[in-house]
Amino acid sequence: MTPHLEDLFSFLRFPSISTDSRHAADVRACADWLLAKLTGMGLTARLHETPRHPVVVARNAHVPGLRTVLIYGHYDVQPVDPLDLWTSDPFLPEIRDGRIWARGATDNKGQMMAHVLGVEKSLRESASLPVNLIFLFEGEEEIGSPNLASFLLQHRDELRCDVIAISDTGMVAPGVPTLGYGLRGITCCEAILRGPKGDLHSGLFGGAVANPAAAIARLVASMHDPDGRVAIAGFYDQVRPLETWEREMWARVPSVGDADFLEVTGSPGLFGEPGYSSAERVWARPTAEVNGIGGGYQGEGSKTVLPADAFAKLSFRLVPDQQPEVIMQQVKQHLERNCPPGVEIEVVPGHDGKPYLSDPNSKFGLAAQAALRAAFNAEPVLIREGGSIPIVQTFRDILGADTLLLGLALPDAQIHAPNENFPVANFEAGILLNQALLKELAK
Ligand code: BES
Ligand code: ZN
Repeated sequence: MTPHLEDLFSFLRFPSISTDSRHAADVRACADWLLAKLTGMGLTARLHETPRHPVVVARNAHVPGLRTVLIYGHYDVQPVDPLDLWTSDPFLPEIRDGRIWARGATDNKGQMMAHVLGVEKSLRESASLPVNLIFLFEGEEEIGSPNLASFLLQHRDELRCDVIAISDTGMVAPGVPTLGYGLRGITCCEAILRGPKGDLHSGLFGGAVANPAAAIARLVASMHDPDGRVAIAGFYDQVRPLETWEREMWARVPSVGDADFLEVTGSPGLFGEPGYSSAERVWARPTAEVNGIGGGYQGEGSKTVLPADAFAKLSFRLVPDQQPEVIMQQVKQHLERNCPPGVEIEVVPGHDGKPYLSDPNSKFGLAAQAALRAAFNAEPVLIREGGSIPIVQTFRDILGADTLLLGLALPDAQIHAPNENFPVANFEAGILLNQALLKELAK
């Protein structure tokens, strides 16, 4: 195995699951390993404690007059369940069919390590970098970066930069270099419905008292019109319409047609807001999603119970110029107003993040396109992203810098799902991309 792959495999072996407190020590050990790797490369690196998982910052010796580039990534990963659907252990990386299989292989350890190793390679080749570099790596992205904004505020001066680069987004198809210039925002909540003081026999009481499980189903259903539009009052008020140039450009992007969405998802059908293609729905339109719903008996066979409570975990993807706090207010009001009779509702707000939109043809956007062209020897496509990286707009708000999204995640990378994978070719291209990017941004 190449030294590059050995480094990535070591990184992938840490089960750095940020949401699960039982893995806090693993997240910490992963940060320690990263710190040692960055220090070993000759960078000045420091680990900063936060109330939960540490932030790791590293830099080269900065030279006045050079551009300062901040590269962000996250070393935490999503949980691995359902574990029985994995072909190999999520934390014992393997190479099969030219791909690396492990939790975090794409999101985000593989993409992040490509930047680290690109810098290591450049330092070996020429002893210095063409830019002043800041690496900023956090362990809380997958839980909504709860401590990073205050970290940015505290360290604003040391983190001052001209531009930010992140590889934590998508690439539309193998070999098609992809520059992301937008991200959806997000806001999450849980709706809890409470009925009787305890579970009841559904024969003795069913029909006489409200059933929280039936009520949550009706409440969830109330969030959409039958045609797929979100039915929450005011939800679309701040949505910036798609631009014609964007729609025309996206229509020419390969591998993002409706047929591709059907194939990659394995779903029997597509469904969404009328009047938009699948790519437009995902990249530029807001949505209301049910991430989980429950209540009552979940075991084998049947059980005649009338559950005491029921819940739904909801998230809303947002686009410019929707504001997470405003949307959460509207959602809360909608849920309270539409709550069926006979149950009590509690809406518990979760994490959120603002949407992001930038100009792909800005000075730095063009530099990123040149780097992508050089690394992949192909013409880059320009897209927005359906996923969220909540800190990106916060970077702009606090550090005043825009972010270049140089995605290497393929549609079938299975991020957040069993059998996450990352092609070795993307890993190697990512290393070249980092080297080309720093050169282009230095110009
Ligand atoms: N890397 C993803 C986001 C992503 C993936 C964007 C692919 C575009 C294409 C990131 O790690 C992620 O999963 N973010 C979460 C954020 C949330 C937990 C606040 C998301 O989008 O659900
Ligand atoms: Zn993720």
